[in-house]
Amino acid sequence: MSGRLPDAFIEDLLARTDIVDVIERRVPLKRAGNEFQALCPFHNEKSPSFTVSPSKQFYHCFGCGAHGSAIGFLMQYEGLEFRDAVEDLAKLAGVEVPQGEGGRPSRPRDGLLDLMQNVASHFQQTLKGHSPAVDYLKQRGLSGEVCRDFGIGYAPAGWDGLLKQFGGTPETRELLKRGGLLSEGDRGVYDKFRDRIMFPIHDRRGRVIGFGGRAITDNGPKYLNSPETELFHKGRELYGLWLARKRASRDEPLLVVEGYMDVVALAQFGFPNAVATLGTATTSDQAAILLRATDVVIFCFDGDAAGRKAAWKALLATLPKLQPGKQAKFLFLPDGEDPDSLIRAQGEAAFRALLQEAQPLSDFFFDRLMADVDMDSLDGRAQLVQLARPHLESLPEGVFQDMMLERLESLARHRLQPLASEPKARTEPRSSGRVGAPPAQQRTPMRLALALLMQHPQLVSEAGTLAALEDSDLPGLPLLRELVDFCRQRPNLTTAQLMELLRDHEAYTHLVKLAVWNLPGEPERLAFEFRDALAQLRLKTVEKSLHGLQRGGTMDDAQKARYRALLAEEQELKNSLRGRKS
Ligand code: UTP
Ligand code: MN
Repeated sequence: MSGRLPDAFIEDLLARTDIVDVIERRVPLKRAGNEFQALCPFHNEKSPSFTVSPSKQFYHCFGCGAHGSAIGFLMQYEGLEFRDAVEDLAKLAGVEVPQGEGGRPSRPRDGLLDLMQNVASHFQQTLKGHSPAVDYLKQRGLSGEVCRDFGIGYAPAGWDGLLKQFGGTPETRELLKRGGLLSEGDRGVYDKFRDRIMFPIHDRRGRVIGFGGRAITDNGPKYLNSPETELFHKGRELYGLWLARKRASRDEPLLVVEGYMDVVALAQFGFPNAVATLGTATTSDQAAILLRATDVVIFCFDGDAAGRKAAWKALLATLPKLQPGKQAKFLFLPDGEDPDSLIRAQGEAAFRALLQEAQPLSDFFFDRLMADVDMDSLDGRAQLVQLARPHLESLPEGVFQDMMLERLESLARHRLQPLASEPKARTEPRSSGRVGAPPAQQRTPMRLALALLMQHPQLVSEAGTLAALEDSDLPGLPLLRELVDFCRQRPNLTTAQLMELLRDHEAYTHLVKLAVWNLPGEPERLAFEFRDALAQLRLKTVEKSLHGLQRGGTMDDAQKARYRALLAEEQELKNSLRGRKS
């Protein structure tokens, strides 16, 4: 069920992984009974509410609601994508990640990754021997140190530099092609990047996956980027993120700028926390990656019309990702300046002061919408509601959404209908699993049964056949059946394994909420509790059937017999439930 990777692999990987081990390397843990505790790494607190359960292989913070498996922890703590978190754990456990599922490369990528790294080193070497390129970088004010840190290099003029260096065999020529380093024309293949300053683009784990090349003469476009390849998807990468994560503190915001040069200049002058989109509008994948990696994102854009349009796009991509505790801000730069020119002209302190004044997302949002309507007229204010509301609905539920709606109400001087309270469909199949503090949910027997099973999958042995619920139409019953079958097919699952296997299930969010329910009770009583919950469900079924028969009017003999049997069962169930409680 986990989609891109085989279930058996995920199950096995988590069986070989100890979450305590994974978390302990990053957060000091203290033993507390059967569990471990720590100050939560995902929010500020003075007393520990972050717990790690070795038996469930699961972490959960009662303060901020963060929770998940070892995979989820790496995603949330390291800002990794699902696949990358899995690869890290696989390395630790010494197992191979299967290749070739769902659009993933079917060929081993290692040869290609090695080649990309070698090409990057080659460009760096080449830079050293080419004084016009070195002069260009000097004239742009880049220090040798920052060039080294970012692995900046030079691709020489000519058509076959890489081919000569690396393309000796058909295999390596094929690798160069797969890496997006060659172009093809009438006269065959040739180097794509020629006479350009080369910026290697790293993935979130520091592997070279593509390049951006800046022209140093007036030849061709100013910047040329790697095409989409099996390694490089520009909508899913951010230039500089790997270095930023390595060098900036977790608590610092990430600055999102437009250009390679901006990232490098900011790093040189005291801001190692800048990243850039790769010549496109901010995508929702990028917004998700950013807000996984940090709590505060500051978008720095040109103050002109184009910059504001780009900022609005970034805002729209960001809204659905603003989970509790996450924040986005916008900084509009003076006309004609970019972060590179600004920091060079005015220095670190001035730029820091500008960042302080970045506009909160909420201000930018309402200012922008109000600019288009006449707020003095009733019609205009109604229009504002029309414009704003769909966007506010895309926000995750929580305090921020509530506050934005309140602000809309007060601006429009109009009380809004409550938002549709439909549970939101899961639009993010692989989100970090972070939710706000769980809202108080009513403890129905169905939810209790599901929660117990999520938290203690071994209880499935107490479930019996569920035959007693055969003719019932209780809400949630199909899910319970499915979960029981699922756990039965895979004995000895931990909560963590169960959750990872259900990641793509339509009821995932619901099940996750139940998996973190605080269920009191000693381990010996769990089986009782579970059987009780099932008995309650049976009782509901019986009562419903009794009502049905009563409402049906006169009963024939068979119906009367059934009625009596149901009455007897009702009594028996009530007695036994009462008996067990005492
Ligand atoms: P800019 O034109 O703002 O360039 O493009 P810049 O970053 O200030 O570069 P310098 O200072 O002139 O060297 C911003 C980003 O847009 C993409 C690149 O990613 C660039 O960093 N871009 C720009 C392209 O992809 N192609 C282009 O021809 C120009
Ligand atoms: Mn620039």
